[in-house]
Amino acid sequence: MMRMPPGRDFGEWREKARGLLAAGIPPERVLWEDAGHADLFEETPMPPPAAAATGFRIPAFFVPLADAVACHGDPRRWALLYRLLWRLTRGGEKHLLNIASDPDVATARRFGKNVRREIHKMHAFVRFRKAGEDEAGRETYTAWFEPEHWIVAAAAPFFRDRFANMDWSIFTPRGCAHWIGGEMTFAPGVDKDPCESPEMLEEIWRTYYRSIFNPARLKVRMMRSEMPARYWKNLPEARLIPELIRHSAPRVKEMFATPERAPRSLENHAYLRGLYAEPEPEDARMPSIARDASLEELSRRVQTCRACPLWERATCAVFGAGPPDARLMIVGEQPGDHEDLAGRPFVGPAGALLDRALAEAGLDRSAAYVTNAVKHFKWEPRGKRRLHRNPGDGEIEACRPWLLAELSKVAPDVLIFLGGTAARSLLGKETKVTRDRGWIEGSPLAGKVILTVHPSFLLRNPDGAAREREYARFVADLRLAADPPSKL
Ligand code: URA
Repeated sequence: MMRMPPGRDFGEWREKARGLLAAGIPPERVLWEDAGHADLFEETPMPPPAAAATGFRIPAFFVPLADAVACHGDPRRWALLYRLLWRLTRGGEKHLLNIASDPDVATARRFGKNVRREIHKMHAFVRFRKAGEDEAGRETYTAWFEPEHWIVAAAAPFFRDRFANMDWSIFTPRGCAHWIGGEMTFAPGVDKDPCESPEMLEEIWRTYYRSIFNPARLKVRMMRSEMPARYWKNLPEARLIPELIRHSAPRVKEMFATPERAPRSLENHAYLRGLYAEPEPEDARMPSIARDASLEELSRRVQTCRACPLWERATCAVFGAGPPDARLMIVGEQPGDHEDLAGRPFVGPAGALLDRALAEAGLDRSAAYVTNAVKHFKWEPRGKRRLHRNPGDGEIEACRPWLLAELSKVAPDVLIFLGGTAARSLLGKETKVTRDRGWIEGSPLAGKVILTVHPSFLLRNPDGAAREREYARFVADLRLAADPPSKL
C-alpha cells in the first residue's frame, strides 16, 4: 500500500512510482491511498531499487500530462498514473498515449482537461477583498475560492505576476496560497472562508507565520527593537514568538541536518495579463464574454467587437475553427486577405503551408482547433492590394479575452504558438521566437506548449535553400506536439 499526502504531490508520487517500477511491482499489486482518507493499512516500505531496472524511456508528453492529472480531485488518479506508466514501460505499449480510445488514456486526458479548465476558471473568477493595511500602508487582500481539484499551486503564479505589489492570500478547501512580502508560500486548505470569522483568520495568520519562521535568523534583540514587545499582543502571530524562540535551537539543528525540499517552481509566465478582463461598465466597445457561452456563440459575438479600431476595415472577425474538444490548439497571428474574405483561419497560402507541415509532422489539421491571437485583418491599401500590417500591442491586448475564452473552452492538451504575435499574446512580451522556440516547459496553459515560427516567415524567405532548411526546422518543432521520448 502506498500512502500519498492529501492533495497534489506529483514529486512524491514520482519517487514512489520510480521505486515500484524499478522493483517490477505491477499496478494490480499496488493500492494507492490518499492519506487522511483512510488509515486502515500501514504504508508498505519501499522495495530496494533494482539498479538494472531503472532508466525506462517514456514519452515526453507523459510528464506534463501526469503533472496535470496529479492535480485532479479524484482519489483514483495515482493508481491511474501508475497503470499508465507501467503500460508505457514494462508493458511495452510505448505508443499508448496516442490511443485516444484506450480507457486509461481517455480518463487521463479528461482529468488533465478538467484541471486546466479549472485553472483558467480560477484565474478568471478569484476576486480579492481588502482585509487590512500594515503600518507602512501596504495593503493585504484575501480571496475565497472552492475548486474541485488541487490546482492552487498551479494557478498561484498568475496572481503573483499580476498582483506582485500587494500582499494577498487565497483560501480554498484544497490548499491556500500566500503572497506576503514578495514570497510565495502554500498551506493546507481550510473548510470555509476565514474572513467570515476573525478568530479563524487570526489562527491562519499564526499558522502562516509559524511556517515562514526561520529560526536560523532569530535575533531576539533586533526583534524587540523592530517590534517592541508591547505591540506583540495585538498581532496574531506575536503569541507564537515565545514558543518559537523556545523551539528555535533544536529546529536550527534539524534544518541543517535535513536539506530543505524546494517546492516545485512553476514557470513564471507573464502570461494572461488582463485575463478575461471584464469591460469597464461604461466601455461598450467590447461585448461581454459570458463565461457559459459556447464557441459558436462566441464566434457570433466577436462580430460585434469594437475593442480596437481594426473592425472598421475588416470584412468580418475571423474566429477559431475546429472541434471544440480538440486535443491540439494552434494559435496564429491574425487573418490575412484570404481569411478575411472567407471568414475562416488559415485558408490562404500560409494555411496551405501549415497544412503540409502538419501532415509531415504526423498531425491532423482537421482534428485541431485553429485560431489567431487577433481576430480582425489589419491592412493598408497599396494600389489595389491590401497590404498586411503587424498588429500592435493594443490590438493584441484588446483581442486577448477572445483568445482566452477559446482556450478555456477547448482546454487543449497541446498548444502551438505560431510566431511572435501569438507568443506575445499569451506567453508575455519577453518571449522571443528565435531564442525560445520549441517546447516551453512548465507552462500551465496546456499539457504541452510549443512555440515555433509563423508559416509566413517561411513564405517570405527569398533564398530557396534557407527556406527548405527553415521548413525542416518548422516541421521538427511541430513534431514535438506528437510524442518524443524522454525519461521520467
Ligand atoms: N496568418 C495567420 O496568422 N492566420 C491566418 O489565419 C492566416 C494567416
